[in-house]
Amino acid sequence: MKVLLVFLFASVYAKHELYEGWKSFYVKPSTDVQLKSLRNLNPELDLDFISYPTVDREGVVVVKPPFQDDFLKFMAEENIEYWVHAEDVKAQLDQDDQLIEAQRKATRFSRSERVTYENYQPLEVIYEYMDTVARKYSQTVTLVTPANSFEGRPIKYLKISKDNFKSGKPVIFLDAGLHAREWITIPTVTYAIHKLVENVTEPDLLDKFDWILFPVVNPDGYKYSYDVARLWRKTRSTDQHSLSAMCPGVDGNRNYDFFWNTVGTSSNPCSDQYAGGRPFSEVETRAVDGILKEHLNKLAMYITMHSFGSMILYSWGHDGTLSEHAFDLHTVGVKMADVIVKSSLSHFPRYIVGNSALVLNYRASGGSEDYAHSIGVKLAYTFELPGFGRGGNGFILNPRYIKQVSAETWAGVVIGAREAGKLFNARSTQPNFDNTRQD
Ligand code: ARG
Ligand code: ZN
Repeated sequence: MKVLLVFLFASVYAKHELYEGWKSFYVKPSTDVQLKSLRNLNPELDLDFISYPTVDREGVVVVKPPFQDDFLKFMAEENIEYWVHAEDVKAQLDQDDQLIEAQRKATRFSRSERVTYENYQPLEVIYEYMDTVARKYSQTVTLVTPANSFEGRPIKYLKISKDNFKSGKPVIFLDAGLHAREWITIPTVTYAIHKLVENVTEPDLLDKFDWILFPVVNPDGYKYSYDVARLWRKTRSTDQHSLSAMCPGVDGNRNYDFFWNTVGTSSNPCSDQYAGGRPFSEVETRAVDGILKEHLNKLAMYITMHSFGSMILYSWGHDGTLSEHAFDLHTVGVKMADVIVKSSLSHFPRYIVGNSALVLNYRASGGSEDYAHSIGVKLAYTFELPGFGRGGNGFILNPRYIKQVSAETWAGVVIGAREAGKLFNARSTQPNFDNTRQD
């Protein structure tokens, strides 16, 4: 018992110790040359761009203690504008914890409502919620566990349908939590579950569609971020490389089989953009692939939730070119963004809609929306949800905004699904224009 207490105390005390001395900076290059040199600096100084700069739009970069002197020297030499974002990342994370704790104390709720949108939830609570919904609404909700994660946790998603996917309705698929630290993504998908079965205000969504809701694609990573390293991004696999035991994990969003490991990725397992040893090396991304393939001919829309940046992104993310479905991708994207902005708070950033590489201003291959699009999902999106407050107060979205973001994102999904439904139905009745081509 004593040992346990000491251990507990030690682990609470050690919270965020990992981030001792880390600092983050706003960086604002004003020319392409500056932007380029800042980018090329990345591997040397192990920078973590939590928000990417463009020319004249500042980004935020986290710099670890051993590289801070070199970083500042570089910024001075290159004459790139910068200012402090967080003087002390650890203190910032501690502060974020206090916000979460204060919120927890302020909001009491009964056991049956354990997943509320007042706060972030540990993996166990999310899983219990999924189990409960599946039990309680067994007519419509089916729990699927396609595999276990690298560390042996069940990977779980829900299928929601009025007829167990039998009548061939178009399917809408939402996933979240591929990147471990992007906590706000997860409640947006549990909220979708809530709105489809518990608090139904849009009954057409279940009359006309079947749904797949996958709130935590990367349970090991989420757990690790929750308990140990708040800024963890990757999976937790250690079988990819001889260095993987020391530097575990693969960037799930570089691991899909789409121009795998060609751009915006790393072959170094210690990098946050490590693409893995091969495409779909991770059991977690294979689980998503399994769903995409199983429902391919009925998938009307796929959205993968990330944070942050208030963006709706579409293909192609590896080279910035447009796909043949760009018009539909853009118009449906704008419709979603439009209702999100209308349902949002006035001080939230407005959404940007566009090609992923162009909006983000960096190219990256092996992403899930590109992969889904490449195998035939016409409407495939990455959402970058609001978060990480630009005002410099915190790396995470204040828990008081979880409900707001979940609700506004849902408003976007609702419109997106309806639009996707129209396009999907039109597709099957329209003649195949390819046959009439003259050239
Ligand atoms: N923030 C996401 C990432 O870096 C954006 C992914 C955009 N999509 C893409 N295919 N590059 O993983
Ligand atoms: Zn992400």
